[in-house]
This record gives sequence, C-alpha cells and structure tokens, in this order.
Amino acid sequence: MKVRYRDLSVDDPVMKQELLEAVDKVLTHGKIILGPEVEEFEGLVADYCKKKHALGVGCGTDALYLALKALGVGAGDEVITTPLSWIATVNAIVLTGAAPVFVDIDQDLNINPDLIPAAITPKTKAIVPVHFTGRVCKMDKIVRMAQKHKLFVVEDAAQAFGAKLNDTMAGSFGDIGCFSMNAMKVFCSYGEAGAIVTDNSEMHEKLVSLRYNGTINKEDCHTPSINARIDTVQAAMMNINLKYLGKKIDRLREISKYYNENLKDIVTCPLEDESYHIYYSYTILIENRKKLIEYLQEKGIETKIQHPILMPYHTAFRGKYPRYDLPVAEKLVDRILCIPNHDKLRDDEVEYVATAIKEFYK
Ligand SMILES: Cc1ncc(COP(=O)(O)O)c(C=O)c1O
Repeated sequence: MKVRYRDLSVDDPVMKQELLEAVDKVLTHGKIILGPEVEEFEGLVADYCKKKHALGVGCGTDALYLALKALGVGAGDEVITTPLSWIATVNAIVLTGAAPVFVDIDQDLNINPDLIPAAITPKTKAIVPVHFTGRVCKMDKIVRMAQKHKLFVVEDAAQAFGAKLNDTMAGSFGDIGCFSMNAMKVFCSYGEAGAIVTDNSEMHEKLVSLRYNGTINKEDCHTPSINARIDTVQAAMMNINLKYLGKKIDRLREISKYYNENLKDIVTCPLEDESYHIYYSYTILIENRKKLIEYLQEKGIETKIQHPILMPYHTAFRGKYPRYDLPVAEKLVDRILCIPNHDKLRDDEVEYVATAIKEFYK
C-alpha cells in the first residue's frame, strides 16, 4: 500500500465542476485584478472569523509582513515569537527591521505564555503567537499580558483557519490575524494566497494601501511597501472551497481521533484539550525518529518533519538574535513527526498507518 502525506488533487466531481466554473467566470468577465470575487472572498472570511474586515493578500508571509508594518513595527523594535514555526514567521518580523525574541514552547508545541513576561523589554512592540499544527495558543493569557504591557498581538494563524478556542476563531483574538491559504493548507487555494483580519477600520485602511505598494488611490505612494494583491482566480476558487471546509475539518478531526485512540499509549499524540484543533498536521512526538521514518517508508507511508530546524538556528539567523533559552523546543524539535492526515485518506489507509506504528514499537 502507498499512503501519501498529502494529496492536493481534487477528486470530488461536483466540487471540481464548481471550481472550473468559478475560474471560467473570472476569465469571462475579465476583471482579473482584484475582481468581484476578491470582495466576496473578503466578506466570507470576515464573516467566518467574526471580524469587521478581511483583506485578501498574496500569501501568508505577505499577511504577516503587512500586519506588522501597519502597526508601525520596525527598526529598533523587538517582537516576541515562538522558535518553532515555518521560517516565514521570523522572516516577516526581520523584514520590517525589528528583532525577533524567541520564547520557548510548551508540550503542545505552542509558545509558553508563562515565559513571555521575562522576554518583555522597553523595546518590545508586539507578540506573534503561532497556532502551530492548527491548535490555538493559550490566547487568553497572551492577550491579557499584551494588554498589561501595551503590546500588539499579531496572530500567525497560517495553519489554523477554522480552529477555535472557547468559540473564538483563530486569528480573531489579537489586533490582527494572519492566514496562509497556500495549497497545503486546510482552507486552501490552488497556488498561493493569504488573508488578514481585523476589527480596526483605520488599520484595515492602512493594510489596503500597504497591499499595493503603499499607495493611496493606487497612485501616490505614502509608505514604501510591496505588491501583495491576491489573485482573483484564487479568491474565486476559495469561495467555493469555503463551502466544503466544514466537511474537510470534520474528516481531519475524525482521522486524528482514530490516531489518538490507537496510538496514545505508544507515542505522544496531539490529544484534544479545550481548543478545537483542526489538525493541519497530525504531529506525534517520538523516540527513534530516523528508524521509524525508514520503517514507514518501507511500508509505503510518507511522513514529514514540520519543521526540522528551529527558526533561530536557520543559517540566516544563527547567532544573530542570541537572547533566548529554548530547552523544550530544542528537545521536542528532534522528536516531532507528522504522519499522513488529509481528507482523501481512506479508513483502511488510516488503520494501516496506525498498525505500522504500533508494529514498529512492539
Ligand atoms: C506558521 C506559518 N506561518 C507563515 C506561513 C507563510 O505562509 P505562506 O506560505 O502562504 O507565505 C506558513 C506557511 O506555510 C506557516 O505555516
């Protein structure tokens, strides 16, 4: 048997037809740049996240960079974040001119909020929590701390569109929420896309300008920025995808529940807590990782390590931002392994993966 880690193809014939018709419509009306489907997408995302405004952008990296810029984060500022994320999180911070300050993670792989106060200095301007793997961080604590110290909160909810904590959607706790909708994500495009949500109308206006080279009325540049406009074709297809998102999340949670029940006595599983986890990745913590990967490979099972290098230890950043103490992240990063979890997996494939892991540890 061959079990793929992800399968990005579209096999539901009804959905495929709807997607093709959505693309056809854009090609026919010809409003290719920020066409009507973008406005529809922004309305749908704002409603879904229960926020006043949403802005479609080119990708999640754009979303983070523009959010930090809109809040005035720049040279001389410090931004607190986790060491365990895709490198885009720290790139967005560094590209504003600010310095990242890494705070260790907890066993749930998210930033440990109890360690944040010790990292705050007079230079701290914002906190960027990452809802890693699709599980919402302990946002109540983080938001309370940010309010106390007058810091902005920019959520990196790139992996967590649809996740919740106490009925509040990921991305809607802080000042600004950022999403990636690249093809790998649960709520995905068929290429690159992202979105930014906020309740702050002034901030939204700034973001609209920053999305198009910092221009007002698309002509006069007020703040140097980038072109981060979302593709209309991607927005049109995501408007269709949003209808199917609930079903997709249900399936990911069903598979994860099966893994949790069958593997929890053998490896450390991402068990349920008070948050509504969407399981963008199903990440276990294990010993003998290399051997398990090889064993699963022999059985035709693909796995992935997301992400194998802590952000401060990437070549670009090693030794550059030395103010951190990361014993938990350093230990766990060598133990994480993501096993197949996508909506096209059949039950027998899920059982096959769980059985193979059980056999390995027997
Ligand atoms: C946690 C995290 N932050 C940021 C990003 C960047 O998003 P994008 O790839 O859409 O630029 C990603 C994407 O993979 C991500 O997983």
